[in-house]
Amino acid sequence: MSNIPPTPLAPRPTVAPATEADAAPSPEADTDSPPVFETKQLSVSYGSALAVADINMYIRRGQITALIGPSGCGKSTLLRCFNRMNDLIPDARVEGTILYEGLDLYGDDVDPIEVRRRIGMVFQKPNPFPKSIYDNVAYGPRVLKMKVDRMDDLVEQALRRAALWDEVSGKLKKSAVALSGGQQQRLCIARAIAVQPDVILMDEPCSALDPIATARIEDLMVELKQDYTIVIVTHNMQQAARVSDITAFLTAAVNEATGERHGELVEFAKTATLFTAPADERTEAYITGRFG
Ligand SMILES: Nc1ncnc2c1ncn2[C@@H]1O[C@H](COP(=O)(O)OP(=O)(O)OP(=O)(O)O)[C@@H](O)[C@H]1O
Ligand SMILES: [Mg+2]
Repeated sequence: MSNIPPTPLAPRPTVAPATEADAAPSPEADTDSPPVFETKQLSVSYGSALAVADINMYIRRGQITALIGPSGCGKSTLLRCFNRMNDLIPDARVEGTILYEGLDLYGDDVDPIEVRRRIGMVFQKPNPFPKSIYDNVAYGPRVLKMKVDRMDDLVEQALRRAALWDEVSGKLKKSAVALSGGQQQRLCIARAIAVQPDVILMDEPCSALDPIATARIEDLMVELKQDYTIVIVTHNMQQAARVSDITAFLTAAVNEATGERHGELVEFAKTATLFTAPADERTEAYITGRFG
Protein backbone atom coordinates (compact mmCIF):
# COMPACT_ATOMS: atom_id res chain seq x y z
CA MET A 1 0.00 0.00 0.00
CA SER A 2 1.69 3.18 -1.12
CA ASN A 3 -0.74 5.80 -0.02
CA ILE A 4 -0.63 5.56 3.76
CA PRO A 5 2.57 6.81 5.39
CA PRO A 6 4.83 3.92 6.45
CA THR A 7 5.66 4.83 10.06
CA PRO A 8 2.47 5.42 12.01
CA LEU A 9 4.15 6.33 15.25
CA ALA A 10 6.87 8.51 13.77
CA PRO A 11 6.82 12.22 14.61
CA ARG A 12 4.10 13.94 12.62
CA PRO A 13 4.60 16.78 10.23
CA THR A 14 2.58 19.82 11.16
CA VAL A 15 -0.65 19.81 9.23
CA ALA A 16 -2.22 23.12 8.39
CA PRO A 17 -5.49 23.75 10.19
CA ALA A 18 -8.66 23.17 8.23
CA THR A 19 -9.64 26.04 6.01
CA GLU A 20 -12.80 27.92 6.73
CA ALA A 21 -14.62 26.11 3.95
CA ASP A 22 -13.78 22.75 5.55
CA ALA A 23 -14.54 23.84 9.05
CA ALA A 24 -16.47 21.56 11.33
CA PRO A 25 -19.58 22.98 12.98
CA SER A 26 -17.77 24.57 15.87
CA PRO A 27 -14.44 26.38 15.66
CA GLU A 28 -14.32 25.81 19.43
CA ALA A 29 -13.08 22.31 18.68
CA ASP A 30 -10.02 23.70 16.94
CA THR A 31 -6.78 23.27 18.82
CA ASP A 32 -3.12 23.17 17.97
CA SER A 33 -2.73 19.43 17.51
CA PRO A 34 -2.97 18.33 13.89
CA PRO A 35 -5.98 16.43 12.58
CA VAL A 36 -5.54 12.68 12.16
CA PHE A 37 -8.89 12.37 10.40
CA GLU A 38 -11.03 14.86 8.61
CA THR A 39 -14.44 13.96 7.25
CA LYS A 40 -16.07 15.98 4.51
CA GLN A 41 -19.72 15.51 3.61
CA LEU A 42 -19.48 11.97 4.91
CA SER A 43 -22.66 9.91 4.56
CA VAL A 44 -23.33 6.21 5.09
CA SER A 45 -26.32 4.25 3.79
CA TYR A 46 -27.36 0.66 4.34
CA GLY A 47 -29.10 -0.35 1.14
CA SER A 48 -31.41 2.52 0.32
CA ALA A 49 -31.64 3.72 3.93
CA LEU A 50 -29.49 6.70 4.83
CA ALA A 51 -27.92 6.11 8.28
CA VAL A 52 -25.78 9.22 8.78
CA ALA A 53 -25.48 12.25 6.52
CA ASP A 54 -23.13 15.13 5.83
CA ILE A 55 -20.71 14.64 8.68
CA ASN A 56 -17.98 17.28 8.68
CA MET A 57 -15.61 16.86 11.58
CA TYR A 58 -12.06 16.09 12.47
CA ILE A 59 -10.22 13.97 14.99
CA ARG A 60 -7.09 15.48 16.44
CA ARG A 61 -3.90 13.69 17.34
CA GLY A 62 -3.34 12.77 20.96
CA GLN A 63 -6.86 13.65 21.97
CA ILE A 64 -9.84 11.62 23.09
CA THR A 65 -12.87 12.41 20.98
CA ALA A 66 -16.24 11.19 22.28
CA LEU A 67 -19.23 10.50 20.02
CA ILE A 68 -22.50 10.81 21.91
CA GLY A 69 -26.16 10.78 20.95
CA PRO A 70 -29.35 8.77 21.21
CA SER A 71 -29.56 5.15 20.15
CA GLY A 72 -29.74 4.68 16.40
CA CYS A 73 -28.29 8.09 15.49
CA GLY A 74 -25.33 6.46 13.76
CA LYS A 75 -22.46 6.63 16.26
CA SER A 76 -21.25 3.09 15.55
CA THR A 77 -21.76 3.61 11.82
CA LEU A 78 -19.61 6.76 11.92
CA LEU A 79 -16.97 5.08 14.10
CA ARG A 80 -16.68 2.16 11.66
CA CYS A 81 -15.91 4.61 8.83
CA PHE A 82 -12.62 5.49 10.50
CA ASN A 83 -11.13 2.04 9.95
CA ARG A 84 -13.24 0.93 7.00
CA MET A 85 -15.10 -1.65 9.04
CA ASN A 86 -18.24 -0.71 7.10
CA ASP A 87 -16.56 -2.35 4.10
CA LEU A 88 -17.32 -5.65 5.80
CA ILE A 89 -21.06 -4.97 5.81
CA PRO A 90 -22.31 -5.96 2.33
CA ASP A 91 -25.08 -3.35 2.13
CA ALA A 92 -23.12 -0.41 3.52
CA ARG A 93 -22.18 2.46 1.20
CA VAL A 94 -19.87 5.26 2.30
CA GLU A 95 -19.98 8.56 0.42
CA GLY A 96 -18.03 11.75 0.88
CA THR A 97 -14.44 11.90 2.04
CA ILE A 98 -12.38 10.79 5.03
CA LEU A 99 -8.83 11.96 5.08
CA TYR A 100 -6.37 10.09 7.28
CA GLU A 101 -3.18 12.08 7.66
CA GLY A 102 -4.41 14.14 4.71
CA LEU A 103 -4.80 11.10 2.43
CA ASP A 104 -8.03 9.59 1.16
CA LEU A 105 -8.73 6.61 3.45
CA TYR A 106 -11.06 5.13 0.84
CA GLY A 107 -8.65 5.67 -2.07
CA ASP A 108 -8.33 2.80 -4.57
CA ASP A 109 -4.76 1.97 -3.63
CA VAL A 110 -5.34 1.89 0.13
CA ASP A 111 -5.26 -1.58 1.69
CA PRO A 112 -8.11 -1.93 4.22
CA ILE A 113 -6.17 -4.58 6.16
CA GLU A 114 -3.34 -2.13 6.77
CA VAL A 115 -5.91 0.52 7.65
CA ARG A 116 -7.35 -1.76 10.34
CA ARG A 117 -3.89 -2.46 11.74
CA ARG A 118 -3.19 1.23 12.09
CA ILE A 119 -6.64 2.05 13.33
CA GLY A 120 -7.61 -0.58 15.88
CA MET A 121 -11.00 -1.21 17.37
CA VAL A 122 -12.33 -2.29 20.76
CA PHE A 123 -15.95 -3.36 20.89
CA GLN A 124 -18.77 -3.03 23.39
CA LYS A 125 -18.68 -6.67 24.39
CA PRO A 126 -15.19 -7.95 25.19
CA ASN A 127 -14.40 -10.50 22.48
CA PRO A 128 -11.25 -12.40 23.42
CA PHE A 129 -10.41 -15.33 21.17
CA PRO A 130 -10.87 -18.75 22.80
CA LYS A 131 -7.12 -19.00 23.21
CA SER A 132 -4.64 -18.31 25.99
CA ILE A 133 -4.08 -14.79 27.28
CA TYR A 134 -0.64 -14.85 25.66
CA ASP A 135 -1.94 -16.03 22.29
CA ASN A 136 -4.63 -13.37 22.25
CA VAL A 137 -2.01 -10.63 22.48
CA ALA A 138 0.44 -12.37 20.13
CA TYR A 139 -2.26 -13.12 17.56
CA GLY A 140 -2.14 -9.83 15.63
CA PRO A 141 1.66 -9.59 15.37
CA ARG A 142 1.78 -13.23 14.23
CA VAL A 143 -0.97 -12.91 11.63
CA LEU A 144 0.53 -9.69 10.31
CA LYS A 145 4.00 -11.29 10.34
CA MET A 146 5.34 -8.31 12.23
CA LYS A 147 9.08 -8.33 12.82
CA VAL A 148 9.29 -8.94 16.55
CA ASP A 149 12.55 -9.48 18.44
CA ARG A 150 11.02 -11.27 21.40
CA MET A 151 7.31 -12.01 21.39
CA ASP A 152 7.39 -12.45 25.19
CA ASP A 153 8.51 -8.85 25.57
CA LEU A 154 5.90 -7.55 23.17
CA VAL A 155 3.15 -9.45 25.02
CA GLU A 156 4.34 -8.18 28.39
CA GLN A 157 4.58 -4.61 27.16
CA ALA A 158 1.09 -4.65 25.66
CA LEU A 159 -0.37 -6.15 28.84
CA ARG A 160 1.43 -3.56 30.96
CA ARG A 161 0.16 -0.73 28.77
CA ALA A 162 -3.33 -2.12 29.17
CA ALA A 163 -2.91 -2.21 32.98
CA LEU A 164 -3.48 -5.97 33.07
CA TRP A 165 0.01 -7.39 33.53
CA ASP A 166 -0.06 -7.55 37.33
CA GLU A 167 -3.25 -9.57 37.27
CA VAL A 168 -2.25 -12.09 34.59
CA SER A 169 1.54 -12.38 34.57
CA GLY A 170 1.41 -15.71 36.39
CA LYS A 171 -1.20 -17.29 34.10
CA LEU A 172 -0.41 -16.23 30.57
CA LYS A 173 -1.11 -19.72 29.23
CA LYS A 174 -4.57 -19.84 30.82
CA SER A 175 -7.65 -19.30 28.72
CA ALA A 176 -8.61 -15.68 28.13
CA VAL A 177 -12.30 -16.48 28.38
CA ALA A 178 -11.83 -17.32 32.09
CA LEU A 179 -10.98 -13.68 32.84
CA SER A 180 -13.56 -11.28 34.28
CA GLY A 181 -15.39 -8.95 31.89
CA GLY A 182 -13.26 -5.96 32.86
CA GLN A 183 -10.07 -8.00 32.50
CA GLN A 184 -11.25 -9.30 29.13
CA GLN A 185 -11.84 -5.74 27.95
CA ARG A 186 -8.34 -4.71 29.03
CA LEU A 187 -7.03 -7.80 27.23
CA CYS A 188 -8.82 -6.63 24.09
CA ILE A 189 -7.15 -3.26 24.52
CA ALA A 190 -3.78 -5.05 24.92
CA ARG A 191 -4.55 -7.03 21.76
CA ALA A 192 -5.29 -3.79 19.92
CA ILE A 193 -2.08 -2.17 21.19
CA ALA A 194 0.07 -5.19 20.28
CA VAL A 195 -0.04 -4.40 16.56
CA GLN A 196 1.23 -0.88 17.26
CA PRO A 197 -1.75 1.06 15.98
CA ASP A 198 -1.93 4.78 15.51
CA VAL A 199 -5.55 5.24 16.54
CA ILE A 200 -7.84 3.20 18.80
CA LEU A 201 -11.59 3.27 18.17
CA MET A 202 -13.77 2.15 21.08
CA ASP A 203 -17.48 1.46 20.72
CA GLU A 204 -19.08 1.65 24.19
CA PRO A 205 -16.12 -0.20 25.73
CA CYS A 206 -17.46 0.03 29.28
CA SER A 207 -21.14 -0.64 28.81
CA ALA A 208 -20.81 -4.26 29.98
CA LEU A 209 -18.61 -3.39 32.96
CA ASP A 210 -19.18 -2.50 36.60
CA PRO A 211 -18.18 0.94 37.94
CA ILE A 212 -14.78 -0.25 39.20
CA ALA A 213 -13.81 -1.88 35.91
CA THR A 214 -15.19 1.16 34.10
CA ALA A 215 -13.00 3.48 36.16
CA ARG A 216 -9.96 1.36 35.33
CA ILE A 217 -10.67 1.53 31.60
CA GLU A 218 -11.25 5.29 31.84
CA ASP A 219 -7.91 5.75 33.62
CA LEU A 220 -6.33 3.60 30.97
CA MET A 221 -7.76 5.72 28.15
CA VAL A 222 -6.35 8.88 29.67
CA GLU A 223 -2.98 7.16 30.06
CA LEU A 224 -3.05 5.80 26.50
CA LYS A 225 -3.80 9.11 24.88
CA GLN A 226 -0.16 10.05 25.41
CA ASP A 227 0.65 7.58 22.64
CA TYR A 228 -2.58 7.07 20.75
CA THR A 229 -5.43 9.03 19.35
CA ILE A 230 -8.68 7.66 20.73
CA VAL A 231 -12.27 7.90 19.50
CA ILE A 232 -14.88 6.56 21.89
CA VAL A 233 -18.62 6.05 21.52
CA THR A 234 -20.39 6.25 24.85
CA HIS A 235 -23.90 6.51 26.22
CA ASN A 236 -22.45 7.54 29.54
CA MET A 237 -22.44 11.31 29.66
CA GLN A 238 -20.28 11.42 32.77
CA GLN A 239 -17.77 9.23 31.00
CA ALA A 240 -17.63 11.53 27.97
CA ALA A 241 -17.23 14.51 30.30
CA ARG A 242 -14.53 12.78 32.37
CA VAL A 243 -12.30 11.35 29.68
CA SER A 244 -12.73 13.21 26.43
CA ASP A 245 -11.18 16.41 25.15
CA ILE A 246 -13.62 16.90 22.30
CA THR A 247 -17.23 15.75 22.06
CA ALA A 248 -19.38 15.29 18.98
CA PHE A 249 -23.14 15.15 19.53
CA LEU A 250 -25.18 13.39 16.88
CA THR A 251 -28.90 13.05 16.69
CA ALA A 252 -31.49 11.57 14.37
CA ALA A 253 -33.07 14.05 11.96
CA VAL A 254 -36.38 13.26 10.29
CA ASN A 255 -36.80 13.83 6.58
CA GLU A 256 -40.17 15.58 6.46
CA ALA A 257 -40.96 14.39 2.93
CA THR A 258 -40.34 10.69 3.55
CA GLY A 259 -40.54 10.41 7.33
CA GLU A 260 -37.22 8.54 7.30
CA ARG A 261 -34.63 9.17 9.99
CA HIS A 262 -30.92 9.61 9.62
CA GLY A 263 -28.17 10.73 11.94
CA GLU A 264 -26.51 14.09 11.68
CA LEU A 265 -23.84 15.94 13.58
CA VAL A 266 -25.39 18.67 15.69
CA GLU A 267 -22.47 20.00 17.65
CA PHE A 268 -18.76 19.39 17.84
CA ALA A 269 -16.81 21.24 20.49
CA LYS A 270 -14.40 21.06 23.36
CA THR A 271 -15.95 18.74 25.91
CA ALA A 272 -16.00 21.35 28.67
CA THR A 273 -17.83 23.78 26.40
CA LEU A 274 -20.29 21.27 25.02
CA PHE A 275 -21.31 20.15 28.49
CA THR A 276 -21.45 23.56 30.14
CA ALA A 277 -22.50 25.91 27.36
CA PRO A 278 -23.89 23.91 24.44
CA ALA A 279 -24.54 26.02 21.36
CA ASP A 280 -27.53 24.03 20.12
CA GLU A 281 -30.72 23.48 22.09
CA ARG A 282 -30.85 19.83 20.93
CA THR A 283 -27.47 19.24 22.60
CA GLU A 284 -28.69 20.89 25.77
CA ALA A 285 -31.86 18.79 25.78
CA TYR A 286 -29.82 15.61 25.37
CA ILE A 287 -27.15 16.29 27.96
CA THR A 288 -29.68 17.40 30.51
CA GLY A 289 -31.70 14.25 29.97
CA ARG A 290 -34.76 15.90 28.45
CA PHE A 291 -34.36 13.93 25.22
CA GLY A 292 -32.96 10.62 24.06
N1 LIG B 1 -25.39 -3.66 9.62
C1 LIG B 1 -26.43 -2.84 9.41
N2 LIG B 1 -27.32 -3.09 8.42
C2 LIG B 1 -28.37 -2.28 8.20
N3 LIG B 1 -28.64 -1.18 8.93
C3 LIG B 1 -27.80 -0.88 9.93
C4 LIG B 1 -26.66 -1.69 10.22
N4 LIG B 1 -26.01 -1.14 11.29
C5 LIG B 1 -26.72 -0.04 11.62
N5 LIG B 1 -27.78 0.12 10.82
C6 LIG B 1 -28.78 1.21 10.88
O1 LIG B 1 -28.10 2.44 10.86
C7 LIG B 1 -28.65 3.36 11.80
C8 LIG B 1 -27.57 3.79 12.77
O2 LIG B 1 -27.18 2.64 13.54
P1 LIG B 1 -25.93 2.65 14.50
O3 LIG B 1 -25.74 1.27 15.00
O4 LIG B 1 -24.79 3.30 13.83
O5 LIG B 1 -26.46 3.62 15.66
P2 LIG B 1 -25.85 3.92 17.11
O6 LIG B 1 -25.92 5.41 17.29
O7 LIG B 1 -24.52 3.27 17.25
O8 LIG B 1 -26.92 3.24 18.07
P3 LIG B 1 -26.72 2.56 19.52
O9 LIG B 1 -26.49 3.71 20.47
O10 LIG B 1 -28.01 1.88 19.77
O11 LIG B 1 -25.56 1.63 19.44
C9 LIG B 1 -29.83 2.64 12.46
O12 LIG B 1 -31.00 3.01 11.79
C10 LIG B 1 -29.52 1.17 12.22
O13 LIG B 1 -30.69 0.42 12.11
MG1 LIG C 1 -23.79 1.74 18.47
